[in-house]
Amino acid sequence: MSHLNRRTVLKGAAVVATLPLIAWTPPMRLAGDPFTLGVASGEPTADGVVLWTRLAPDPLAEDGRGGMPNRTVDVDWQLAHDEGFTRIVQTGTVSAAVDSAHSVHVELSGLQPGADYHYRFRAEGHLSPAGRTRTAPAAGSLAPLTMCVASCSHFEQGWFTAYRRLAEDSPDLVLHLGDYLYEYAAGRSPRRVRDHAGPETVTLADYRRRHAQYKTDPDLRAAHAVAPWLVVFDDHEVADNWADDTPSAPDANFPARRAAALQAYYENMPLRSTARPSGVDMTLHRRVNWGALATFHMLDTRQYRTDQPCGDTFASDCVQRFDPTATLTGAAQERWLLDGFAQSATRWDVLGQQVFFGRVDVVSGPGGGYNPDGWDGYVANRQRIINGIENSPVRNAVVLTGDVHSHWAAEVHERPGDVESPVVATELVTSSISSGGDGSETRAEIEAVLPENPHIRYFSNRRGYVRTRITPDELRADFRTVPFVEQPGAPVGTGATFVVTDRDAVLRRL
Ligand SMILES: [Fe+2]
Repeated sequence: MSHLNRRTVLKGAAVVATLPLIAWTPPMRLAGDPFTLGVASGEPTADGVVLWTRLAPDPLAEDGRGGMPNRTVDVDWQLAHDEGFTRIVQTGTVSAAVDSAHSVHVELSGLQPGADYHYRFRAEGHLSPAGRTRTAPAAGSLAPLTMCVASCSHFEQGWFTAYRRLAEDSPDLVLHLGDYLYEYAAGRSPRRVRDHAGPETVTLADYRRRHAQYKTDPDLRAAHAVAPWLVVFDDHEVADNWADDTPSAPDANFPARRAAALQAYYENMPLRSTARPSGVDMTLHRRVNWGALATFHMLDTRQYRTDQPCGDTFASDCVQRFDPTATLTGAAQERWLLDGFAQSATRWDVLGQQVFFGRVDVVSGPGGGYNPDGWDGYVANRQRIINGIENSPVRNAVVLTGDVHSHWAAEVHERPGDVESPVVATELVTSSISSGGDGSETRAEIEAVLPENPHIRYFSNRRGYVRTRITPDELRADFRTVPFVEQPGAPVGTGATFVVTDRDAVLRRL
């Protein structure tokens, strides 16, 4: 024992001797491996990223606490250059607290731009799996970006094979555009490969348990572990088709439900503390810069939307959708977005959002019209955004969309519906990971839409995700599809590939 160590020990003994004589109970040991939910990262900047995990030795525990004891647990984290964790970059310890469901969000800074890192956690003798993450490139960089876009993973309706295939593509960044989970009670899906745990999610315990159940899926965990994510929610993270304070089924308890859902969402996603909810509100819309290549404008089209002016069915005769006060973004977020366009200095401006942006005319059959849940139900709000793209330095605008459980590629015209007007943006709609089950090569009622909508260039009713490769000169989009999700292990293929070239939003099919 060195002199220094002896002194430290003696000093420690002296402290113990002065403590009052109270019974000391060792903390209860964890019931098992607390890292069943895996690890994740998100919100990359040029010098930092958020690392996430949540301790849950019993992820399906009914009280939503994941089998954790009622006390704070210290969690060590490590960041390294290499997979073997021999070249450590940073380490630290954070507290996983009961009131955040033992989730931790480590906001790193001081990292190198455009660099890969590996990370892992340790708690009470247990070591987590390792994740890989990546910082954004330096401010002036035009380095290419490989990015995957996903939405709509329904636990009952299919295996998350598409998440696994996404992970195997090893992207630099993942965008998740919402319906990360579904609130429905166990057994609600007529055809299902497995069951949700518990009733329809309403309480904080319900939402915490549902998030935990989703992350028990190894394919989802693999997708989180491969790259940083940028997430925004849609409706099902809270309740079907909800709008600001107005759920589709009016319910006096909705504000409490919304607050619970947002709290659990924050706890279970690799978000910054700026997104921490306060009651029924959380700030989810934000801008993320990827060097000089791209600016991501991540939109929240749920918290500030006015209730659907025409109900939730296709309706051709509703005039309220032209009401200038009908809004998906709310006035403040719209202004924030237009300000962002005005300040744009990157090659590509990417809108990460939920619902169909362009116009879709459904003229045949009963119920012909448009989808009031998307931007077609909020025409004035959309037009102001299109005008904002045109009357700003924005060089290339790309809208990324989820929600509709099918792949679409579309051109957005200056006046939606007038295909003679200039093309001002490109819209890429990603299919679901699993929602809707296997899908099919054709869906007659939707394919019938295509002749009425010449600006829509592609449709597929298979499950999958969109993989993009963005360079200064072009954006290439591969519509990745899996032939089935109701059995595990599907291979992945590319249903179609489109290229958009710099300063020309027109889609070119390869
Ligand atoms: Fe969905």
